[in-house]
Amino acid sequence: INLKPTVVVIFGGTGDLNMRKLAPALYNLYSDNYMPGNFAIIGTARKKLTDQKFRDTLMEGVNSFSRNGKVKKDKWTKFAEHVHYNPVDVSAPDTFASLKTLIERFQNEFGPTTQVVYYLAVAPNLFPLIAQCISKYGLAGTEESCKVVIEKPFGRDLETAKELNKLLTGIFTEKQIYRIDHYLGKETVQNIMAFRFANSFLEPLWNRTYIDHVQISVTEQLGVGDRGGYYDGAGALRDMIQNHILQLLCLVGMETPINFDADEIRNKKVDVLKAMRPFGPDDIRFSTVRGQYTKGWVEGKEVPGYRSEKDVDADSNTETFAAIKFFVDNWRWQGIPFYVRTGKRLFQTSSLITIQFKDVPHHIFPGSVTEHWQQNRLIISIQPEMSIRLQVQAKRPGLDMVLNPVDMVFDYKGTYSSDTPEAYETLLLDVMTGDQTQFMRADQVESAWELLMPVVNSWESKKSLSFPNYTADSWGPEDAEALIARDGFHWFTLP
Ligand code: BG6
Repeated sequence: INLKPTVVVIFGGTGDLNMRKLAPALYNLYSDNYMPGNFAIIGTARKKLTDQKFRDTLMEGVNSFSRNGKVKKDKWTKFAEHVHYNPVDVSAPDTFASLKTLIERFQNEFGPTTQVVYYLAVAPNLFPLIAQCISKYGLAGTEESCKVVIEKPFGRDLETAKELNKLLTGIFTEKQIYRIDHYLGKETVQNIMAFRFANSFLEPLWNRTYIDHVQISVTEQLGVGDRGGYYDGAGALRDMIQNHILQLLCLVGMETPINFDADEIRNKKVDVLKAMRPFGPDDIRFSTVRGQYTKGWVEGKEVPGYRSEKDVDADSNTETFAAIKFFVDNWRWQGIPFYVRTGKRLFQTSSLITIQFKDVPHHIFPGSVTEHWQQNRLIISIQPEMSIRLQVQAKRPGLDMVLNPVDMVFDYKGTYSSDTPEAYETLLLDVMTGDQTQFMRADQVESAWELLMPVVNSWESKKSLSFPNYTADSWGPEDAEALIARDGFHWFTLP
C-alpha cells in the first residue's frame, strides 16, 4: 500500500508498552512491507540513551514479545536504521526543542507530504502536558500532517474524560485524535461486524424475538503483576468494562450501518450506549457484583492475594472482578439482558461472547429423546481460541432417536494457515492510513463513562465488607453466579 512518509514519535519510548506491543508491531509491519517507503521512529523518554542503545533495547523487546519470535538479523539491521532516540523531559519542556529539530530534519528529508504520528504511551497524568508541549512548539500540524494517539485510560471518570477531550480538541481536531482501545484491533473482534453484516441469515434472528440473553465474559488467569500502582487506582470497572467490554457490547448491539464510513459506524455504536438503561440505586444492588481475589494456588504454585500484591493498599477497596447486568432500551433489545463479567486471577483466560437463542416454541420430542437438550447458542470466542461456534441440536447416529447438542465451528486455525496480526499492528496501520473506524470518538468515551458513573461512585464511596471474596483460580465471587442464576441462566465457558 501507498503510505505517506511518516515520522512516529513515541513518548514513553523506554516503557513497557513500547517494548511489548509497539516495537514488535512496527517491526512486523516493516517485515510484511506495510511501512511507508520513507519513515522514521523516534523514541523519547527521560533517560539519556544513544540511538544504538535504544535500538538494542527495542530489539530485546521484539525478541521477547513478537508473535513471530526473534528478529531476522538482516531485516532488523535495516529496520533499526529508521529508529532514533531523543531524550525529552516533560517537566522541563525546553527539552522539546531538540525533538522539534529532529522531526524537522525528517520532514525536510521526506518532503511536504510527511505526516507525524505522536504516540502517547505514557502515564495518563502526562497526556495534557505532552499535548500542550506539542502545541507550544508548533508541532500540532494539520489533519493531513499530524496525528496523536492516546492510550487508555482516557480519564478516570466522566468529568476528567471531558476535561481531557476539551484540552485535546483545543489543540487538535477530532480527525487528528486516535483514542486507542486495543480490543477493537483484534482480528476476532473486527470479524464481529463482518459476521453480522455480511451474512443474510443472522439479521432476522438478531433481536429480542429470538435472542434470550447475551453474555460477554473476559476472564484472565493473571493477577495484577507489576501494575498494582496503576490498577489499585482503577479497578476492573475502569480497566476493562468502561472500554473493552462496552465496545464489544456495542458491536453486538448496534444497528446496521449504512456504509463502512468511520463516523457512520461510530454513530451506530454510540446509539447503543445512549440506549443503555441508566442505573438507579436498586439496580446497583441487584445488577452489579464486585469481587477481589484472595491468595490461592495456580498450577501448583501459591499466588498472593490482591491486597498483598506490589504497590497495592493492604486494605484496598479496589475490585479485581466485576459482573454487571445491562439492558439496552430500544426496539431491538428491550427486555433482553446483557450480562458482562471480567476479572483477574480467574480459573481460565478466555474472552467469549455468547448469544443464547430462545427455546423452540413447542417440543415435539419425548423427554427420553431430549435428555441433553440445550437452547441454540452462538459463541464468538475472541481469545485464546479464535472461533465462532453455533450450537445446534442434532440426531445422534444410531438406531435410537436421541438428540444431543453439536457445534458447527468456524475455527481460524483450521481455516487459515497464515498467522493473524496483533491488534497493535492493525491499529498502527490504521493510524498511518488515517482510518478512525476502530478508534474511540470523544462522545463514545463520554457516553461509556456516563453510563458507569453511578456504579463507579457507589463502589468507591461504600467500602466492600466482603473483600476479599474469591479465591485465586476460581470463577469469581459466588454472587456473580447468583446474578445470572436468578434469571435462570449460568455463565457459559468453553471446555
Ligand atoms: C488492558 C488492561 O487494557 O487489557 C489489562 O489494562 C488487561 O489489565 C488487558 O490485562 C487485557 O488485554 P488482552 O489483549 O491480553 O486481552
